[in-house]
Amino acid sequence: MADLEFSPYDFYGVDSDPYPVYARLRAEAPVYRNEELDFWALSRHGDVVAALRDSRRFSSANGPLLEASVWGPAARRALSFIAMDPPDHTRMRGLVSRGFTPRRVAELESHIREVARRHVDTALAKGEVDFVGDIAARIPTDVISELVGVPEAERGELRRLADLAMHREPGGREMTAEGLAALMELIGHFADLVSDRRLRRQDDLVSALLEAEVEGDRLRDEEVVAFLHLLVGAGNETTTNLLGNAVYWAWRHPDQKALAFEGRAREWVEETLRYDTVAPTLLRTLTCDAELHGVKLPSGSRIVLLPGAANRDPAVFAEPDRYALEREFGPVISFGSGPHFCLGASLARLEARVTLEEFTARVTDFDLDMSRASRRQSPYVRGFATLPVAVM
Ligand code: HEM
Repeated sequence: MADLEFSPYDFYGVDSDPYPVYARLRAEAPVYRNEELDFWALSRHGDVVAALRDSRRFSSANGPLLEASVWGPAARRALSFIAMDPPDHTRMRGLVSRGFTPRRVAELESHIREVARRHVDTALAKGEVDFVGDIAARIPTDVISELVGVPEAERGELRRLADLAMHREPGGREMTAEGLAALMELIGHFADLVSDRRLRRQDDLVSALLEAEVEGDRLRDEEVVAFLHLLVGAGNETTTNLLGNAVYWAWRHPDQKALAFEGRAREWVEETLRYDTVAPTLLRTLTCDAELHGVKLPSGSRIVLLPGAANRDPAVFAEPDRYALEREFGPVISFGSGPHFCLGASLARLEARVTLEEFTARVTDFDLDMSRASRRQSPYVRGFATLPVAVM
């Protein structure tokens, strides 16, 4: 059998498939060592969940991205509380949650439906449709911009900058200089927005965050700015890829596509979240010496957790490699687990369901042209950059 080699940078091709490698990691090397990139990887469901829930030993202080430790302090601060441990994390998350309430999210449904209808209609009227560029990438940006309070005229520019900041050259393992410049420009936009809302409060998230208070504690301007950056980074690209993956995997499984068209959008979203995990790698840093499955891990080790491998663990999911909308849903960890559990999970699920409902309401069937499709070049999100679709 070939040597077992795993790097999160290996899966950039359109047909790339990390799942056979994940299966081998789970079975043969549950604590896998990559010397060159200096990390250890955990792939079994039980190990990944335990690490996600144990922020005392598996710290987020260096951020959840494999590269973040080399970004420098300014860029690191922009990661906000996703790169903090309790108690700092608890404080920030508590304050932010005051503005980001389930009610605020639920109230967005009719707005999301309106945005989804508009983009689906505009795309279908064009004839040639790229499901990702014309539909899946537009809806989350518009929804977050609306929630946050970004003026309409600035939304396209924000999407461009956020895309640039996430982009990696093919095979590239570092943020590009252009990406870093885009990140700083993005932060500048948010700083302007926050200064503006300090002077003129409106009915939006930025204003709510500036007013949020827990036991006399409030957020400083730079903390709000970093959080806005986190929202845009964590909330756009991820939801876009979930949508693209849903369309792709339904297309690959015509029997499941038929179910998707029969009003099963909720199940379509859930099974896609499990089957092709959008955020496949999450970094933690070990705070003490540890031993796992007989392997000694020194304090300071970089630990790559693989929710993508965990979501296909046969110890937890029956027939994990089958894409099946009718399955009973289990402990899928696509939104993480423990203290950093995704703050936007209900928003992402809502946006994805509503978009797929609006899309399938307008077409009777679709076909994909994979010869013109391309994948996102990033180890942090799994999905498509372009997905040309012909609708019937
Ligand atoms: C955290 C996935 C959409 C905001 C996370 C984490 C995951 C994740 C895995 C945990 C990171 C960690 O443990 O280090 C996803 C996926 C999404 C999605 C797959 C879409 C399909 C969103 C949306 C928003 C959002 C729409 C907001 C608008 C956040 C925030 C955190 C987070 C703020 C940090 C939470 C914390 O550190 O306490 N997300 N996310 N996400 N997500 Fe999401």
